[in-house]
Amino acid sequence: MKLLVTGGCGFIGANFIRYYVKKHRSCAILNVDKLTYAGNLQNLEGMEERKNYRFVRADITNAAQMRQAFRRFRPDAVVNFAAESFVDRSIAAPAAFLKTNFLGVGVLLNCALEYGATRFLQVSTDEVYGSILKGKFHERSVIDPSSPYSASKAAADGLVMAFHRTYGLPVLITRSSNNYGPYQFPEKLIPLIISNALNHQKIPVYGDGLHVRDWLYVGDNCRAIDLVLHKGRTGEIYNIGAQYERTNLYVVEKILRILNKPLGLIEHVKDRPGHDRRYAVSITKIKKQLGWQPSVSFEAGLSKTIDWYEHNRSWIENTRTGAYRSFYRKYYSGLGLKNF
Ligand code: NAD
Ligand code: DAU
Repeated sequence: MKLLVTGGCGFIGANFIRYYVKKHRSCAILNVDKLTYAGNLQNLEGMEERKNYRFVRADITNAAQMRQAFRRFRPDAVVNFAAESFVDRSIAAPAAFLKTNFLGVGVLLNCALEYGATRFLQVSTDEVYGSILKGKFHERSVIDPSSPYSASKAAADGLVMAFHRTYGLPVLITRSSNNYGPYQFPEKLIPLIISNALNHQKIPVYGDGLHVRDWLYVGDNCRAIDLVLHKGRTGEIYNIGAQYERTNLYVVEKILRILNKPLGLIEHVKDRPGHDRRYAVSITKIKKQLGWQPSVSFEAGLSKTIDWYEHNRSWIENTRTGAYRSFYRKYYSGLGLKNF
């Protein structure tokens, strides 16, 4: 099989490619990534030595570049990870989110149709459902996104389904909860806590810190995406979650204790505008249809993750470039975080 992966130099994409090449040894992979601030070739170090793996630097919103990639590679299947993925950046500057997360998906869908891909998997998010205080969202729940990021992902889900209903494109959508693990850019909560704590820097907790997320180890998500790609029913959506809900404060305190750092590093700052209080998805469908369930406990996943960041401090430093620092200086001063 020939698989075109987009956004493979980001966090989940890189973990997925590493997982996939081990599991499907005869499969050829083309990784298409624009290498934004979040894309990092180091995440796939060693991969270029494999003869069934190729990387092309290209932008999914550029139709000419995508047509060329599809024409030359002729993929059987496509998995789209490429996205602007950080909610806070979408609040500060939404335009890139609309362009990549919606228009870029449109370009990919057109190419998949034109070049006859037989599976198109869109990696979406549980954030499209919005916040839920009690119970869990299932795949037919109404979507009600809160941020420009989640609205752009929800719009893309609509477009993906429209290509299925209108043109019969064999699409699949996954909506997973919050991932954590190696290679996650240290702007997201868990890698931010670890990276800041290792450097004895403050950890900004938005509002009261009692917002709840369901923490899924990235390896479990990769396994689920692989299953959905190969065995999922086309035209369908699959929720993926760990069923491990914790408040942000619980997660921050737990990591500080493991690293033996003072809880005094926590600094409550202004809340994120439109901040969703709780995410929770039912995973009954993927369990029943595909026999998937999470296999890595939070304790085990966190220990692997912390270990990876402790052993890859130069990777952390390489991500914290001048552009990163100037964004955060401005961003954190807006939140009222001192001494960053
Ligand atoms: P990430 O930000 O770490 O990586 C995104 C990758 O996409 C980067 O390599 C970047 O260079 C690339 N990219 C961005 N714009 C591009 C463009 N126009 N053309 C080509 N490449 C482009 O993101 P992630 O956390 O790995 O998330 C991957 C996908 O999973 C996203 O679609 C996201 O919405 C979804 N998702 C993430 C989570 C999570 O917890 N991280 C949970 C659910 C769903
Ligand atoms: O639920 C899936 C989504 O999870 C993905 O679709 C997104 O791509 C991914 O970024 C993530 O979104 P969140 O907004 O939930 O993740 P983030 O790591 O940004 O924040 C997790 C929680 O921690 C959230 O309640 C906000 C809070 N937070 C975050 C940061 C970065 C803080 O309190 N302080 C922080 O510095």
